[in-house]
Amino acid sequence: MKKFLVDDTTYCATTKGSGPVLLFAHGFPFDGRLFQPVVDRLATRFFCVALDLRGFGGTPLGSNGHNSLGAPRVKMGRFADDLAILGSELDCELGRKNAKIFVCGLSMGGYILLEFLRRRPQMLAGAIFCDSNAKADSEEKAKSRLYLAETIDSFGVRNLAENTIPTLISPKTAKNKPEVVETLREMISSQSALGIAAASRGMAVRRDLTDLLPTIEVPTLVLGGEDDSLSPPESLDEIASAIPSASRATIPNAGHVPPLENPDAFANAILEWHERIA
Ligand code: MLT
Repeated sequence: MKKFLVDDTTYCATTKGSGPVLLFAHGFPFDGRLFQPVVDRLATRFFCVALDLRGFGGTPLGSNGHNSLGAPRVKMGRFADDLAILGSELDCELGRKNAKIFVCGLSMGGYILLEFLRRRPQMLAGAIFCDSNAKADSEEKAKSRLYLAETIDSFGVRNLAENTIPTLISPKTAKNKPEVVETLREMISSQSALGIAAASRGMAVRRDLTDLLPTIEVPTLVLGGEDDSLSPPESLDEIASAIPSASRATIPNAGHVPPLENPDAFANAILEWHERIA
């Protein structure tokens, strides 16, 4: 595990491989372990960085992980700025100057990737948008996130894991891959209530970025599991058709977390796309 000073916190990340930098931004409530199986497969082509976003895994929330009233909150733009700082830091460390990077964002990581595209498209060589969407929360959804943020301490992170896992995976994963269920359970249960509250509040106030999609010029791959009920294939088709530069791939035998459920297909989709745009 490597550590990188990013503004007011220290990001923990697993790094592996050589080639252009590929930052992996995980979903909620996970950490960099979500991408572990694909990092091994993609390391021949990329310098892979599977990071723990602030408040998750080994990365402390930091003083900037709070709103003006002192409640834990990290907006998607803050996470996107962290990725930009980390990307520049890696540039220096690898002896490169202003090299463009790739960012792969899954679900909440996809919200962060869109903020990155809005703020700093010039830093990106490519964008990999997985199992996510571009819309803001409905009022009802935003309320439920704020409720989760207020109650997670007493509700318990382990209960959150038990409640959410069935919605995250394909029925085929549930039946055939108990090790994926166990990995998810361990990963979610190990997150801190503070990090969960902060990201929940941040997602609740994220902006609608649907209008950004037609303006994206960076080569983009839109990926998703065929059985993802949270970001269904039809909604990812819509996103891909709204982005002029987008390619689209669907990962078989996978729900919302294809890097764990079908890592071979997930990594191959990225490698094939990268070959086409290189
Ligand atoms: C995720 O996997 O990051 C979540 O499903 C995102 C969300 O709650 O909107």
